[in-house]
Formats: sequence, structure tokens, C-alpha cells
Amino acid sequence: MKKALTSAVVLFLLINLSAQTSIILHADEGKYTISRHIYGHFSEHLGHCIYGGFYVGENNTLIPNHRGIRTDVVEALKELEIPNLRWPGGCFADTYHWKDGIGPKEDRPKIVNTWWGGVTEDNSFGTHEFLDLCEQLGTEPFLSGNVGSGTVQELSDWVQYINFDGESPMSALRKENGREKPWKVRYWGVGNEAWGCGGNMRVEHYVDVFRKYATFMNARWGEEGIFRIASGPSDDNYHWTEVLMRDIPFNLMQGIGMHHYSVIDWNKKSSATGFSEDEYAITMEKAYDMDRIITGHSAVMDRYDPQKRVALVVDEWGGWYDVEPGTNPGFLFQQNTMRDAMIAGMTLNIFNNHAERVRMANLAQTVNVLQAVILTDEEKMLLTPTYYVMDMYKAHHDATLIPANIHTVDYTMDGHTVPAVSVSASTKDGALTVSLVNIDARSAQPVNIDIRGMQAKSITGQILKADQLQAHNTFDHPDVVKPVDFNGAKLMHGQIQVTLPPFSVVVLQVK
Ligand code: AHR
Repeated sequence: MKKALTSAVVLFLLINLSAQTSIILHADEGKYTISRHIYGHFSEHLGHCIYGGFYVGENNTLIPNHRGIRTDVVEALKELEIPNLRWPGGCFADTYHWKDGIGPKEDRPKIVNTWWGGVTEDNSFGTHEFLDLCEQLGTEPFLSGNVGSGTVQELSDWVQYINFDGESPMSALRKENGREKPWKVRYWGVGNEAWGCGGNMRVEHYVDVFRKYATFMNARWGEEGIFRIASGPSDDNYHWTEVLMRDIPFNLMQGIGMHHYSVIDWNKKSSATGFSEDEYAITMEKAYDMDRIITGHSAVMDRYDPQKRVALVVDEWGGWYDVEPGTNPGFLFQQNTMRDAMIAGMTLNIFNNHAERVRMANLAQTVNVLQAVILTDEEKMLLTPTYYVMDMYKAHHDATLIPANIHTVDYTMDGHTVPAVSVSASTKDGALTVSLVNIDARSAQPVNIDIRGMQAKSITGQILKADQLQAHNTFDHPDVVKPVDFNGAKLMHGQIQVTLPPFSVVVLQVK
């Protein structure tokens, strides 16, 4: 007996000494729920996100669709169980007049999409089409109201048109346009990037604008009340958050939007596929900055709102590179590689670990724009590495966050440093999910995970990896990057030993 015990101790020590990364999970100490809304998406009238991506028109006989909405895209997104979808922008939202997008299509005005490529917007995809899309997806809509160039009356009317059950001018108009019952939309953005394309405002001015708009987005138009999201800071502009929290009563504001993109340099981005390891490391450093930025905003919010009534909503995030050669620069169409999978895996771990304050987020953007989960080309469609990370992380939706203590080494490239391993863990329905990302582009990472507060009996897993950081799926070769079952994790005496290949994402299910 004594001998057996000694060998177990020796084995434990050997394993721990050889592991470069050690993680302790307190499986019985979960307190916070990881809101499924952290796994939200974003769709803007930009390039081929809406037109060609989601919507091909009712008369399209080449691409299978349901009332003009692509069936293949809907099916792929249903698989991801996407919890919410933000629309119509982005910068476009502050130019959008919703009444242009209702009623007979032939009567809808054609406008110029001033932010994105100067193309003609025929308004054939409007409120009814978007809310139909959300119903087909089984997802919650998140509408961004026009504050920059709209009016208080216009936004108030939109809320009434969409949410009011009784008799009113706006509900009568909705019925005239074929929708009897209100949709009851809960999530509403009050402008977008008010500090930039949404009006170049100072926050001291925007707080009063917000207060006025929010007052007339009357909660009475929706039974459960609506969730109003203020246009929040860019990156680490903590002053913006401070003024919002100080000057807006919490009965008017339920969330603060924050945007952070992983971009090397706004004036000199990198190619989406032809990047160096150096550029990879810088992109990852920018993505990892999300943790510092959220921590900073949370500290400001905690001072005004220790009970955490107001949510931090990261309603735009992702990698931003040069557009694909030969495509319209205003369409922001970029390929998606293993680098994007690394960004997604690490960022979602960061959001999960901040679940107490971060209760919603939207990857930019779902189809054909920036860090997309789906790319389309006419009737063809492919799923990107980012799609597969979202799929692998599904078990975290509405699960209980498990505190994780991690000790890891650094991945350094040409002076750019990021902790090599990123982790988050949660429990749901008796299973523990552990998502691990090895950011190191060259070295495998041996990891030891000590599970406390749970009798772990079995382990299964999935892995996303490739031969090259630049690996990606194309319309001709759509399955180059795809997750496969992973049985490289060993469970012994409540400890998991696993070696993560360079630039890989591994998700383990422990029961
Ligand atoms: O996602 C693309 C653009 O980035 C959005 O329209 C805007 O809000 C942000 O600057």
C-alpha cells in the first residue's frame, strides 16, 4: 500500500515537473454564469455580409433560400446555436432610416452606402427581412438605433413598430406590412461608435443624447422591458466609460458597448493569409490586450456599480487585415486562417473568465466581412477556422464558469510576448468543459490540469490544428482546417496530462 502511494506521488511529481503549464480548476467553486450572449454575431450592410451573404432575394433560383434568406448559411449558423445577431451596423446604423426598409420593395428608396464602398443600397433587406432571418436562425435580434443622423422620434417609432402589442400608429403600420404580432426585441443599441462614425461626439455630449433617446425608447413598448446599450469606448478609453457610468441613470442604461479589434497598425495592416510569424505575434499581442482592456473598464464600472447591474457588451471584436487582393477596399472581405482560430479561442476564454461583467459580445462580422465564420461566393459557401472554434466552445453557453489558476510560460517573437497557453472552464449538466489554446507558433506545450472538487472519470476532446499558421479553407478545398476527435489527453488520479501542439485549440469534456 505504502509502495503504491509512493509511486503515485512520484508519478504526480514527474508529470508536474515536466509540464510547462499547470492549471488548477476548482470545479465546485463556480459562481457566475457564462452568458450565451457572449457568443453573439454581427451583421452590417457592408460588402457582401447582407447582400450575397445572408440575403439573395426571393426571386433567386440558383441559391436555395427561404423568403430570400440563404438556406445554407442559416443551417450552418443554427449548428452554432448563435444566441444573438446585431444589425444593421456598425457605422451604417447611424445613416440608416428604418422606414426606408419597410413596405413594398419597389417603393423603397435607393440610398448610397456612404461608409462602405459608396454602393447603392436598395433597402430590399429591412426590418421584416432581418427579423425573419432571426426567426429562421432561432436567435435574438440586437438592433442598433440611428442616433448620429436620425431623430428621437424615429427611434422611438422603431421600438413601437417592432414591440407594441396594442393599437397605435406604428403597430397599425406593421400590420399593414404583413406582421400581426410584435417581435418583442429586447436588445437595442443607442447609436454606434458615437466617438467616431456615429457623430464624432465628446462623451460629455453623448451622455445627454443617450439620456434623451433612451427616455423615448419606451419600455412600455415591450413587456419585459428593453435592454439599452450605450455606445461605449474604443479600446482602453476609460474616461468614456467613467462618464457614462457617472452621468447616466442605470434605469436607462443596461449595457455599455465596447469595441476592440486585433489590428497590427491601422495604417499598415497585414495580409490575411500571407503574414509572417512576427505579424502573427503582434496580432496575438493585440488580441490578448482584450484582457487588460476589459479589466480596466470593469474596474471603472465596479466603482459606480458594485452589484454589476450594467453589462459590458463587447459588440465588435476580431482580427482586421488587408482586404483580399482585387476586392473592393470598402467591403472588408478577408480570408480566415489558423491565426483567426487562435484569436477566437483566446478571446472567448477571456470573455468567459470575465463572465461576471462581460455578458454579451459580437464577433465582427458573421459572413464575408472581417473575421467571418462563413464565406460565400455566389452559390458556394465555406466554414472558416473561426466557425469551428465557435462550434467547439458551444458547451460554454450558459454554463457555470469554473475558476482556473494558470501558470504558463511566455511565447515571445521579436519582442512581442503573450502567455503561451490560454484556458477557461465551465460546468453544465454534470460535465466539465475545458478550452485550451496554445498560442505558441513553434513549441508544443505540455499541460497538467489538476481538477479539484469533482470526481473525474472520463475524458473526450476535439482539436483544431493545421500544418501552417496560414492554413485556411477555400471554396475548392473547404476542409483543410476542421476539428477532429482528440484522444491525447490522459486522466490519472484527478489530473489531466495533455500536450497541445503548436497553434492549436483543444476542448476537453470531462465527466
Ligand atoms: O465592423 C466594421 C466597422 O468597424 C463598423 O461598422 C464600425 O462600428 C467599426 O469601426
